[in-house]
Amino acid sequence: MINISIKNIAEQAAETKALILPVFEGGYSDTCLKLDGFIDNRIKRVFDSGEFTGKHNQTSILHVSGIKADRVLMLGLGKKENLTAEKIRQCGGKAAGFLRELGVSDSALSTGAFRTFGQSFDGQQSPTFYFVEGAMLASYRFDRYRKNENSDSKNKTFLKTLTILDSSSDMPMESLKSTVSAVAFSKDLVNTPSNDMTPSILAKTAKTLSGKNLKVKILERKDAEKEGMGAYLAVAKGSAEPPKFIVLEYNGGKGAPIALIGKSITFDSGGISLKPADGMEKMKYDMAGGAAVLGVMKAVAELGLKLNIVAVLPATENLPGGSATRPGDIVSTISGKTVEIANTDAEGRLVLVDAIVYARKYFKPKAVIDIATLTGACSVALGSEAIAMMGNDDELMRRLKKSADETYERVWQMPLYEEYKDYLKSDTADIKNIGGRNGSLVTAAYFIKEFVGDTPWAHLDIAGTAYSDKDRPYVSKGATGIGVRLIIHFLKGLC
Ligand code: BES
Ligand code: MN
Ligand code: ZN
Repeated sequence: MINISIKNIAEQAAETKALILPVFEGGYSDTCLKLDGFIDNRIKRVFDSGEFTGKHNQTSILHVSGIKADRVLMLGLGKKENLTAEKIRQCGGKAAGFLRELGVSDSALSTGAFRTFGQSFDGQQSPTFYFVEGAMLASYRFDRYRKNENSDSKNKTFLKTLTILDSSSDMPMESLKSTVSAVAFSKDLVNTPSNDMTPSILAKTAKTLSGKNLKVKILERKDAEKEGMGAYLAVAKGSAEPPKFIVLEYNGGKGAPIALIGKSITFDSGGISLKPADGMEKMKYDMAGGAAVLGVMKAVAELGLKLNIVAVLPATENLPGGSATRPGDIVSTISGKTVEIANTDAEGRLVLVDAIVYARKYFKPKAVIDIATLTGACSVALGSEAIAMMGNDDELMRRLKKSADETYERVWQMPLYEEYKDYLKSDTADIKNIGGRNGSLVTAAYFIKEFVGDTPWAHLDIAGTAYSDKDRPYVSKGATGIGVRLIIHFLKGLC
């Protein structure tokens, strides 16, 4: 974690390896002018050369003498009138990544530019906050399995110190630190390969979060049998790894809890309805919903949020085998409703409905939010840019949308028209677990809707966003930790 401090000194007085200087596009500012007086107009010369214009995320490094800093890292913010919280977050990530490449671990941030822009800023926090958030989020790598000492990324360290040059700061640092570490925690769980992230290991990890206000309980296969969770158990049948139904209860306030349900398939082969080999290795991320929920619970407990939460992670593998569920099998859920499993690869909704009905039955939550890598169709519809959101409660979804905009973990609402009900009709059971190819993003959610009753509910499909195939300004390739910041922000809004 980057060590953040605040110092009320001028740019030229900052003793640092790298002075980060955010500048607007074409914006040779007063701060630049003042600094240039000490460093022989080096900043002006860079602008004049045309090499650097201040375009968003553009960088240029100057080695200087005449000030206390060894280097100035010029960082483009883009046009002043287009500045958003997300753009600054990206700049923070960009700066952290750039300095890491140079092997520089100590820096100071000029906040001059942040103090000069207009009123239209879209963030709830100060610009500096988003910069720090971006830098902190970017300081994540997953290299636990790289044993080669010479490996490029292993020898480089991320920023250790960042001194903010400002008179004061009203940043909620504790909350930011807990949130960033929850995101990293969640990413680690997702990036860990399935042989080291079995349902048992996930359950053990959940147990480590136990504390004064947080109880963790694990239901074994036999407990789930007693509860009648036939849909969840049907998914677990093909695997030699025992399923673990993980329940976390956080008690920080009064009243009915919010229920968070995270899909936790530690590997999804598709089962007997086997997936194609191509890309199957990525199905370790089918527990990203559960990982996000665990990250949220960790932060919530650390921050002592004043509300009650129950989290349920129905963890299992989905594998083919001699005792695996067959397409066409009919099972009974905890609610008593029967399901025809027409496709064993539509397993997420099966484990989710038993988890949701369990939470409703024992905890009477005032709202249920499920988060799941549920459908390939989610990526087809939205790519990797937005979470697909559906639900039965406009107020709940409005609040989630607000948090999504603020955290840039964006959601896009899809409809749950009554007509979709017909897609899930079974000839043999109460309902079928697939609704055909067309509309499969929404029919998956509609299946869940059939089990939530009148409890306010929102569903977040993160299949497209939980894993990134490319490096982004503050999120590296691999697990993205999506949902963690969004849900923490949402929960804080309820306190
Ligand atoms: N875990 C997958 C969804 C998924 C696919 C997540 C690709 C991330 C990337 C889910 O269990 C699944 O297999 N869904 C099927 C449902 C289909 C059989 C109705 C799908 O979307 O193809
Ligand atoms: Mn599947
Ligand atoms: Zn799945």
